[in-house]
Amino acid sequence: MDTYKIAVIPGDGIGKEVVPAAIEVLDEVAKLDGSFQFQWTYFPWGCDYYLEHGEMMPDNGLEVLKQYDQIFLGAVGMPELVPDHISLWGLLIKIRRGMKQSINVRPAKLLQGLESPLKNPHDFDITVVRENSEGEYSDSGGRIHSGNDEIAIQNAIFTRKSTERAMRYAFELAQDSRKHVTSATKSNGLTYSMPFWDEVFNAVKTDYPEIDTSVTHIDALAAFFVMKPQAFDIIVASNLFGDILTDLGGAIMGSIGIAPAANLNIEREYPSMFEPVHGSAPDIAGKGIANPIGQIWTGKMMLDFLGHSEAGTRVLNAIEKVLASGVKTRDLGGSSSLEEVKAAIIQSL
Ligand code: NAD
Ligand code: IPM
Ligand code: MN
Repeated sequence: MDTYKIAVIPGDGIGKEVVPAAIEVLDEVAKLDGSFQFQWTYFPWGCDYYLEHGEMMPDNGLEVLKQYDQIFLGAVGMPELVPDHISLWGLLIKIRRGMKQSINVRPAKLLQGLESPLKNPHDFDITVVRENSEGEYSDSGGRIHSGNDEIAIQNAIFTRKSTERAMRYAFELAQDSRKHVTSATKSNGLTYSMPFWDEVFNAVKTDYPEIDTSVTHIDALAAFFVMKPQAFDIIVASNLFGDILTDLGGAIMGSIGIAPAANLNIEREYPSMFEPVHGSAPDIAGKGIANPIGQIWTGKMMLDFLGHSEAGTRVLNAIEKVLASGVKTRDLGGSSSLEEVKAAIIQSL
C-alpha cells in the first residue's frame, strides 16, 4: 500500500473549517480504494502564528515542507489584523516560490446539479493554466517622493523560462483535451511584458501544430467568460490575469466556494501544493456555513496528481451527486451547513 505524507496547513478563516472536512473525504476515498493511504501532519502556520511569533511560518519552514510528498493548504489572510501583503508573501507566495510551483492549474466547469448565474451557460469546461511564480506579482519596485508628488512603482517580471513553461504545459493539457489553447494577453496596453508574452506564445505554438490557438486580450476574455464560456478549452494566462479570470471562473460555475486549484512543481523536485481558489472568507468564518467543495475538489486534483485518478473521479462524482440532490451551502442558494455537505459527499462516495 502506498502511503503519502502530506503537510497540512489549514491557515486562516474558513481554511480551518474546510480543510478538516476535505481530509475526512480523502481518508474515506482512500479506504474505499484500498491501494493507498494518507499520513497527515498539521502545521499551525498562518496569521494566528504571526500574531504570536512575528512571522507566518518558522525560518526553516520551507526545509520542513520539502520532507513531505505534497502540501494541502486552506487559505491565508486575516486582513483586519495582519496586512495582506505580509501574510500572503510570508506564507502562500513564499511556498509557491520556494517550492518552485510555477504552474497553477484551475479548472472551471459546469457541474451537474449546479445553477450557473449565467443565462446560457451551455456546457463549459475550461482549464486556466496560470503562471504562478512571477509576472505582475513581484517585490520589485518602491515608493519615491512624498505628498502630492508621491509615486509608487510596481515592476512586473516575465522570464522566458517561466513564460514558456506555462505555455508548454497548456499545450500539453490541450493534447488530452479539445485541442485548443487561448493565450490571455494585453499587448495593446502594456509595452514590454505582453508583447514579450505574445512572442513566446507564437514561438511555442509552432511545436504543437495539431493544437488550434487564439490570442485574446484579457478584458475581452473576461467578457467572453460571461457571454460564451463554452468557446474555451485551455487558457494560458499570466499570474495576475489568471488570478482574476479564475475567480470569474468560479463565479460562472455558481460560486467561488467550489473552485479548485493546484500549484504544481511539474518537475516533481519539490512538493506541489493543493489549495482552492477562494480565500479565508472572514465574513463567514467560524459559522459552519462555508462551502467545502472547493477544498474537496482540490483534494481530487491532488489524487489525480498522485496517480489515483479513479479515486479522484469518485470524489467528483460524489460532489455532483450531492449537488444534484439539492444539498448545498448558502453561496449556492441552499441552506445546508458545511457539515451536512461533507457528510452527504462521504455518504455518496
Ligand atoms: P475570499 O475568497 O476569501 O471571499 C470572497 C467572497 O466569497 C466572500 O464573500 C466569501 O464569503 C465568499 N466565499 C469564499 N469562499 C467561500 C466558500 N468556500 N464558501 C462560501 N463562500 C465563500 O476573498 P477576499 O474576501 O478577497 O479575501 C479574504 C482574505 O483571504 C484576504 O486576506 C485575502 O488576501 C485572502 N485570500 C487568500 C487566498 C489564499 O490563501 N489562497 C486566496 C484569496 C484571498
Ligand atoms: C489566489 C489568491 C492569491 C493570489 C492572493 C491571496 C495573493 O488570490 O490564490 O488566487 O493572488 O495568488
Ligand atoms: Mn485569487
